[in-house]
Amino acid sequence: MQTNPPFDSNKTAGLHQSYWTETAPSLAFGSISAHVVTEVLVVGAGISGLTTAYYLLKAGKRVVIVDDGNAGSGETGRTTAHITCALDDRYYDIERIFSKEDARLAAESHTEAIRQIEAIVSQEGIDCNFMHIDGFLFRHETDPAKNLDKEFEATQRAGIPTDWAVPPGIDEVPENRAIRFPSQAQFHAMHYLNGLARAVERLGGKIYTQSKATDITSKGAKVNGFDVAADQIVVATNSPSNDIFAMHTKQAPYRSYVIGARIKKGALPYALWWDTGDQESKWTSFPYHYVRLEPLDDAYDLLISGGEDHKTGQAASENLPEEDRYTKLEAWTRGYFPLIEDVRYRWSGQVMEPVDCLAFIGRNPGNDNVYIATGDSGNGITHGTIAGKLITDLIVGNPNPYEKLYDPSRISLSTAKDFISEQANVAKQYADWFSKEDLQDAEQIAPGQGAVIGGRLDKKAAYRNDDGTLEVFSAVCPHLGCIVRWNNDEKSFDCPCHGSRFDTKGCVLNGPATSDLEKRNMKPASDGQ
Ligand SMILES: Cc1cc2nc3c(=O)[nH]c(=O)nc-3n(C[C@H](O)[C@H](O)[C@H](O)COP(=O)(O)OP(=O)(O)OC[C@H]3O[C@@H](n4cnc5c(N)ncnc54)[C@H](O)[C@@H]3O)c2cc1C
Ligand code: FES
Repeated sequence: MQTNPPFDSNKTAGLHQSYWTETAPSLAFGSISAHVVTEVLVVGAGISGLTTAYYLLKAGKRVVIVDDGNAGSGETGRTTAHITCALDDRYYDIERIFSKEDARLAAESHTEAIRQIEAIVSQEGIDCNFMHIDGFLFRHETDPAKNLDKEFEATQRAGIPTDWAVPPGIDEVPENRAIRFPSQAQFHAMHYLNGLARAVERLGGKIYTQSKATDITSKGAKVNGFDVAADQIVVATNSPSNDIFAMHTKQAPYRSYVIGARIKKGALPYALWWDTGDQESKWTSFPYHYVRLEPLDDAYDLLISGGEDHKTGQAASENLPEEDRYTKLEAWTRGYFPLIEDVRYRWSGQVMEPVDCLAFIGRNPGNDNVYIATGDSGNGITHGTIAGKLITDLIVGNPNPYEKLYDPSRISLSTAKDFISEQANVAKQYADWFSKEDLQDAEQIAPGQGAVIGGRLDKKAAYRNDDGTLEVFSAVCPHLGCIVRWNNDEKSFDCPCHGSRFDTKGCVLNGPATSDLEKRNMKPASDGQ
């Protein structure tokens, strides 16, 4: 009997719908059905791909965009859409890794991206609740107070007009002070993407959805088996699926969690709130909390709170499986925002954390006409917008002040410690090949559940459909051979090495893997595994 996977991967890359995907129309445009020749092929219709297409079209280029799901079915549909120059990483770290001038350029590029988004919203008449608001960065209790002072000084050197403030609306934070970042912004992510996609179409861009690019080369790609030939290729797939190895050693995949809770309108001002992150965390990239409000209806706003990150596929190593992270996040949120009422939304998503704090945007290492945008961490809305302008300038031949800063070929020697620690973490995951963990009998897997089963050197990923039938695959990730793990929260098999994810039919949800998990047969229970 044919069974359906528990969620529609054309819409979103996991079981949970975000507030944005649930309250905006799906962005399906029809799939590719013939060979195509164009000037620029953009692979991926998230914020990076669509913004790049938008600027290229405005510069007079012919552009084809393909996405293997609907537009926004990747991480853009699962974001929280803080639009900010207050970065995930500290400006004093960017000064240390790069230079004071580079920290200033980074601040300027994100500030400029906020302006660009505002200009697109206004020029294209996009109804997406865009609003300017202030952001407030306060100290996580594990972070020494002097670090917030250090950050304040670094933001000032970077040219951001920050000041000290008592953050509004939030119960008392350490020292009752925060760095205020004025004139940040927020929007409804999928309403914005919808408007951007319509503008791309109006400008003559051709968007194909349910159209998967494979065999990406400097001449184009195969898309659903058809040839798309192009002079320039932009790989905006979040995790670059054209690259097997190089880029994936410079960044690491983390899963981040979000809740959306109702709060009476007027109880809180619209603002962005962030803490500085848990400095005692085991992860190289310290998880932090990020909070904002979105207008919900006449009586309520939705407080959207995120955090509790862990490396993809490795939640269990903190004894806190994926589905239990929301409880911890809710407890933290209620501690600081006691007026929230019921939690209406829960979702999670994946962020690519670069080892040196800044995204990788520009020419793919070793290629002159293939471009990537990745490593955008929790600042992918502005990074994706920076990518749109920067990649367009590279293609058109205009100078861009941020080309060197975001160059994917850069090597930042002062991040050797973080680089080694992330690589050591990846190397450790290969021990799963020999582990005895998860040696469950397939009979133990309940309907709607999955697991990794089998003996040493013979691991299988198995999922039991609601009708009791079993789907069985090799548990070996086709990217570089790590053993995938079951994510019971989003109903996917997640690779702990570089973040590939697969649905319950074994199909790729997220790269870098480009092929599905190999189908396997299950021997009858009496034969053992
Ligand atoms: C929980 C969470 C909260 C976040 N909060 C914020 C925030 O507050 N502010 C902020 O700035 N950033 C935030 N981010 C980060 C930001 O949302 C992302 O970095 C950004 O949306 C990524 O956009 P993208 O276009 O690069 O990738 P995506 O939106 O993932 O788009 C890539 C697209 O490529 C498609 N694709 C992949 N492979 C192929 C293929 N082979 N062929 C065709 N199509 C393909 C996918 O289907 C997908 O639609 C958050 C992320 C998460 C997960
Ligand atoms: S994502 Fe690289 S081995 Fe799985």
